[in-house]
Amino acid sequence: MKVLAVLYNGFQAAKAEPRLLGTVENELGLRAFLESQGHEFVVTSSKEGSDSDFAKHIVDSDILITTPFHPGYLTRDLVDKAKNLKLCVTAGVGSDHIDLNAAVERKIQVLEVTGSNVTSVAEHVVMSILLLVRNFVPAHEMIERGDWQVSDIARNAFDLEGKIVGTLGAGRIGSRVLQRLKPFDTKELLYYDYAPLPKDVESAIGARRVEDLEDFVSSCDVVTVNTPLHEGTKNLINRDLLSHFKRGAWLVNTARGAICNAEDVTAALKSGQLNGYAGDVWNVQPAPREHPWRTAKNELGGGNGMTPHYSGTTLDAQARYAAGTENILQNFFDGRPQNPADVIVGAGKYESKAYGQR
Ligand code: NAI
Repeated sequence: MKVLAVLYNGFQAAKAEPRLLGTVENELGLRAFLESQGHEFVVTSSKEGSDSDFAKHIVDSDILITTPFHPGYLTRDLVDKAKNLKLCVTAGVGSDHIDLNAAVERKIQVLEVTGSNVTSVAEHVVMSILLLVRNFVPAHEMIERGDWQVSDIARNAFDLEGKIVGTLGAGRIGSRVLQRLKPFDTKELLYYDYAPLPKDVESAIGARRVEDLEDFVSSCDVVTVNTPLHEGTKNLINRDLLSHFKRGAWLVNTARGAICNAEDVTAALKSGQLNGYAGDVWNVQPAPREHPWRTAKNELGGGNGMTPHYSGTTLDAQARYAAGTENILQNFFDGRPQNPADVIVGAGKYESKAYGQR
């Protein structure tokens, strides 16, 4: 079979650090595994436009491997051209870069390495909440500049203790974020999700479900976004919903950039409706140089905790999603059943409810 992988260039770092498995150079560690079984393996970072390697090779590939970090966008148009395609594997979690409805229609299976990097992301969320609430980034920048004016930082620094934190989406990542926040003695931990948490998990965390989205956001000092991107979450956090947030709330989004409206979030930060915005996901990746989130600030010149998309690609996570990808491929080659939790789209239907309850 022909297997195509779209990965990012790791350049010197990937040569020096073989554990950077999700790179073109290190090929998810799959070359020997695939070639020893007689498969052809093409790896590229070139993914945009009709002249890209992705567009050229997808035409006769049987299997596509992508990551959310350097997403090869498998549009309906490319699905139509991919006559041999049977399986898409996301090395990681989050398959919104695949046109899932087109995959359903064409009976192309879509699998993720479910759970492979959820702890990695949950840790990043906790870090991002703390760095916003405590006004960390401007404090560090001040030190690098050679300045020292404590009042300029302390005027917008708070404790997380006593605040209300809520997760939009309480699946694997959202529930882990709440679990990790429990020892911070917040006033309340809330969640909004169409799937309630199991009762024992809810009571172990001490979390409360809020059923109305506007009630939810208006109750929170901090909102963290942890839903997949699908028709029901695209552009969900827009000017209208932001107007229901508590004035001066903090927003953390490590789920997908397109869940938040880029211009509306930037305007909310500028106006003081949001005190801070942090996360690592962008509506186009790599993010263009002029993307407003790179430089958006609150009125005091802080409130920006944005990074490139790396929360779910720590070296620990890369080992897990590379191994998980190999496992999915071996199951496929052997005709063995897949782990049901990994299957987003099975043969002709959604198997997961997380991409919009269907
Ligand atoms: P999950 O499937 O365990 O949980 C998602 C939860 O969102 C489910 O409980 C589902 O019911 C809920 N949900 C879906 N649509 C909703 C809506 N409209 N309103 C309220 N709740 C809704 O997924 P997991 O593992 O927690 O990952 C969530 C997302 O995080 C992924 O789909 C991906 O987009 C993102 N992610 C980001 C990473 C990064 O590196 N920044 C790495 C891994 C995941």
